[in-house]
Amino acid sequence: MVKTLSQPTIEELKPGVKAPVKETLLTPRFYTTDFEAIASMDISSQEAELRAMVAEMKADYNRHHFVRDESFDQSWEHLDEKTRATFVDFLERSCTSEFSGFLLFKELSRKLKDTKPLLSEIFNLMARDEARHAGFLNKAMSDFKISLDLGYLTKNRTYTFFKPEWIIYAVYLSEKIGYWRYITVYRHLEKHPEYQFYPLFRFFESWCQDENRHGDIFTALLRSQRHMWDSWTGRLWARFFLLTVFVTHSLTVDERTDFYEMIGLDAREYDQTVVCNTNATAGRAFPVMLNVDHPEFFPRVYRCSERNMELAAIDKSNAPKIVKFFRKLPLMAGIGWDMLRLYLIKPIDAEAIRDTVC
Ligand SMILES: [Fe+2]
Ligand SMILES: [Fe+2]
Repeated sequence: MVKTLSQPTIEELKPGVKAPVKETLLTPRFYTTDFEAIASMDISSQEAELRAMVAEMKADYNRHHFVRDESFDQSWEHLDEKTRATFVDFLERSCTSEFSGFLLFKELSRKLKDTKPLLSEIFNLMARDEARHAGFLNKAMSDFKISLDLGYLTKNRTYTFFKPEWIIYAVYLSEKIGYWRYITVYRHLEKHPEYQFYPLFRFFESWCQDENRHGDIFTALLRSQRHMWDSWTGRLWARFFLLTVFVTHSLTVDERTDFYEMIGLDAREYDQTVVCNTNATAGRAFPVMLNVDHPEFFPRVYRCSERNMELAAIDKSNAPKIVKFFRKLPLMAGIGWDMLRLYLIKPIDAEAIRDTVC
């Protein structure tokens, strides 16, 4: 039985502006990287592909998509406080990750302007999309009388340094998992419109195509760097990023079962659909896929999730720091052990089945 951590409540930075959530390993991160190393990357083997992607991005199929129609012109006061807080939490996390993408792509575009004009243009077009996505979500938050101060977030969030290869693995996966998250919700609500309590979800079908295109651009970047897929270190890093992104997804979905129930989804079924599909898609870019069908895979992931929720409950308790530490220690060791065992499950060689992976 899954339990959510607690009822979400909305804290304000100032009236109408939401205080950002406390940063943890599971909250969306802001990234920075070694821009000079990206400027010196040889992308020639994928240049034709990247030029085709620029042309597609310039076509801007979603130019007129993110326009709020009359379905938003109504009051949402009828939603109870729990629904409102749970939904605002979903909007905030989504807006923060979209905005994090915007900042990274914008900075990459700026820093590569003179040295890699093709990449600079691609990143600028991706930043355009992410700005739309973040803006649309922030506007949705304002329907609930709260919004994020994105300028404040830009200045006050911690930026995590990832070297270029890590950025490529991590952003590829976040775009593709984003695609599967949006499309899975969209398809479910298409079949069950009775759960569509707010019009945002209707926008997900075209929206997720943006994420899919962004993922394809990162496929080209990844495949342009042979050592990222044709070396033992590349295979180990690919496994590491697949596992950490999937476990982070499962843990965050498990913490928010209330939200998924609100839209008529079983949180764990949803999580597994998203993880399995993203894993299969990753086989087109990554040298390996995880064996998510292994009988130990999801049970170990959900044991990590249950321990993660116990850790959060200890953190929230009033016990002295030292007591908290000793209560948390075995749980952290348990998570570490399960992660190691998960990492050691033999992966599937995607290079060997490259032409048959769909
Ligand atoms: Fe996006
Ligand atoms: Fe994206």
